[in-house]
Amino acid sequence: MQFSILTLFPEIIDAYASASIMGRARKNGVIDVQAINIRDFTTDPHKKVDDSPFGGGSGMVLACQPVESAFESLLPLQEPARVLITTPAGRKFDHPFALELSQCKQLVILCGHYEGFDERIMQLIPGIEEVSIGDFVLTGGELPALCMMDAITRLLPGAVQKFSSVEADSFYDGLLDYPHYTRPAEYKGLRAPDVLLSGNHAEIAKWRKAQALQKTKLARPDLLE
Ligand code: ADE
Repeated sequence: MQFSILTLFPEIIDAYASASIMGRARKNGVIDVQAINIRDFTTDPHKKVDDSPFGGGSGMVLACQPVESAFESLLPLQEPARVLITTPAGRKFDHPFALELSQCKQLVILCGHYEGFDERIMQLIPGIEEVSIGDFVLTGGELPALCMMDAITRLLPGAVQKFSSVEADSFYDGLLDYPHYTRPAEYKGLRAPDVLLSGNHAEIAKWRKAQALQKTKLARPDLLE
């Protein structure tokens, strides 16, 4: 999968996407990440990419020209492609959405910025989809872009060594993950559940399923509806 991130802070994208699972997926050719600096595409002599909002108000608004030019530098996209823009006003990103996006060959993410972006960007880039990672407001779209890239990458074949661990994780089967334990079997008087030490794989699977159900019922009953 090709991730193309349009941002004013490419170094943030590069730093995260070079470490851990994403870094390895990049080295193995499972993903490619290009972080494109929108500022490189402005025609403004002072390299400005934003301006104050018409009608007044605080903050700066990301302007049309540098965003459109940065996007056009990516054309033609590798199909199937999707183009996203990060905004708290967008469709909520979740596991089914991540699965849907993992089917793309190329994913373009335009990182929103402080007060927002010129609304005409929605018309200049046909098919662009607004996406939110939750009901809170961040100062920029880099963290939302990275959250989505991370969640999508781990769904791609070859990104995580054992795909069974992805399938067992929260949300894959509609349930939250079961609790995990590791050595030592007892720590400061706290014992790991005996069933996990029993070697009886059928019993372990049964216990895990029951725990996942109980945890989901308590913490996220909405997932069971
Ligand atoms: N930009 C600012 N806040 C955001 C959020 N919650 N999701 C996506 N983009 C954002």
